[in-house]
Amino acid sequence: MTLYRLKGRDLVCLDEYSGDEILQIIKAGLEMKRRHYAGERVIPVLRGRSIAMIFEKPSTRTRVSFDVAAHQLGAHAMYLGWRELQLGRGETIADTARVLSRYVDAIVARVREHEKLEELARHADVPVINALSDLSHPCQALGDYMTLLEIKGRLRGLTLAFVGDGSDNVLHSLLVAGAKLGVNVRVATPRSLQPDPRILRAAREAARETGAEILITEDPYEAVRGADAVYTDVWVSMGQEAVAEEKRRLLEPYRVDSKLMQAAGSRAVFMHCLPAHRGEEVTDDVIDGPQSIVWDQAENRLHIQKAILAILVR
Ligand code: CP
Ligand code: NVA
Repeated sequence: MTLYRLKGRDLVCLDEYSGDEILQIIKAGLEMKRRHYAGERVIPVLRGRSIAMIFEKPSTRTRVSFDVAAHQLGAHAMYLGWRELQLGRGETIADTARVLSRYVDAIVARVREHEKLEELARHADVPVINALSDLSHPCQALGDYMTLLEIKGRLRGLTLAFVGDGSDNVLHSLLVAGAKLGVNVRVATPRSLQPDPRILRAAREAARETGAEILITEDPYEAVRGADAVYTDVWVSMGQEAVAEEKRRLLEPYRVDSKLMQAAGSRAVFMHCLPAHRGEEVTDDVIDGPQSIVWDQAENRLHIQKAILAILVR
């Protein structure tokens, strides 16, 4: 498959991509990393291009890694806080998309409501890339499966166990991409925090084709047994402050600690998209322990986003 046919495409949800396309992007990320360490830090395939990065929520990793990725590809990236744009004073998303399309070659956006990304994508003439919404975080999942491929040497047939908030945006992207890649995804979560039904449907449909197993359980020990990776994310995502107490109460039995990692077995790596709330969803000894690969995950955001930009931007 040639990656050239992905030029100009949006990356709003991984459901719009085939398993083969997802794998090719991941492999391109690994190639970017190989070249980085071979001394080829700058690969100026996007010389002269400009990228607007609109953020409606805070960010450390996504913001910095996209900015550095653009720079290393020869492009110019602009950080635009939502409230500093006229968007914050009521200009419509559609008009903003039309105007930005006349200046820049791609729009990277982090938004509160996923529908805002869809609206941007509908009205922009340039690729719109999801930098996190309340529904999904595709760049994170691409980077994470890149990390797993790098460390485990394969993806198909691996088992990733997510323990925590079943309605989490990162989990949603891990579910869809995992099912398409043939990775078994098990989710341990309270009954009241189930994944979004649209996501679950898409993942189950994809899993039927690849043979991946999708399991939702309330028992963290059932989920992690024999898993290749144990993954968690914050219990209270950005924008959920109003339900913080309730979520902390519900998720108390879902902390990833050394006892749970032991139950998973020595083959299991520990993963977290970060930022971590140490002592809440994960204990210090796990995130700082020998099974943790969280810093590799964070680094790989840079390499995968170089691949994403190089592939999608015209
Ligand atoms: N994992 C991640 O997207 O982190 P930031 O919120 O810091 O971008
Ligand atoms: N689920 C988290 C992910 C942060 C990268 C949040 O949305 O805050």
